[in-house]
Amino acid sequence: MRYLISALLGSMLFVANAAQANECELTIDSNDNMRFDTKEMSVPASCDEVTVTLTHSGKLDKKVMGHNWVLSEAGDMQSVVQKGMSAGMDNNYVPEGSDAVIAATDVVGGGEETSVTFSTEGMSADTDYKFYCTFPGHSAIMQGSFAIKE
Ligand code: CO
Repeated sequence: MRYLISALLGSMLFVANAAQANECELTIDSNDNMRFDTKEMSVPASCDEVTVTLTHSGKLDKKVMGHNWVLSEAGDMQSVVQKGMSAGMDNNYVPEGSDAVIAATDVVGGGEETSVTFSTEGMSADTDYKFYCTFPGHSAIMQGSFAIKE
C-alpha cells in the first residue's frame, strides 16, 4: 500500500513538472491580415527561460507580409520599431546591438515558423513589456502586452 501511494505521488509530481515546463513555452500565430492571434502573453515568474514560437498561417511571402516577434519594455517600443525599420529586412527589421531588445525572432512569411529562447534574468513582474512586429507599418496593429506573473 505504501509503495502504491508513493508511486501515485511520483506520477502526480511528474505531471506537475511537465505542466510547469510548458508554461514557459508560448506559441503565437500571425496571418495575412496583419494580425497576431493574441493581445496578451504571460509567463510565470518561475520561468528562467522562455521560448516563443511564432507561426504564420497565411500564404503571403515574407517580403510582402512578413512578421517577427520582438519583445522590449513598453517604453522602448517606438524607438525599437524606428531603428528596426532602418536596420532593414537583412537584419529582420531588428536594430543590431540594441540593449532595448529583450528577444526577437527572424521574419517569417506564410506557412513558415520560427522561435526564440531568451532568459528572463533582469525582467520583473512590476515592469510593463510589449511584444510587436517590427515589419514596417505593422506595429500599430501587431502588438500586445507581455507580463511576468508572480
Ligand atoms: Co507583421
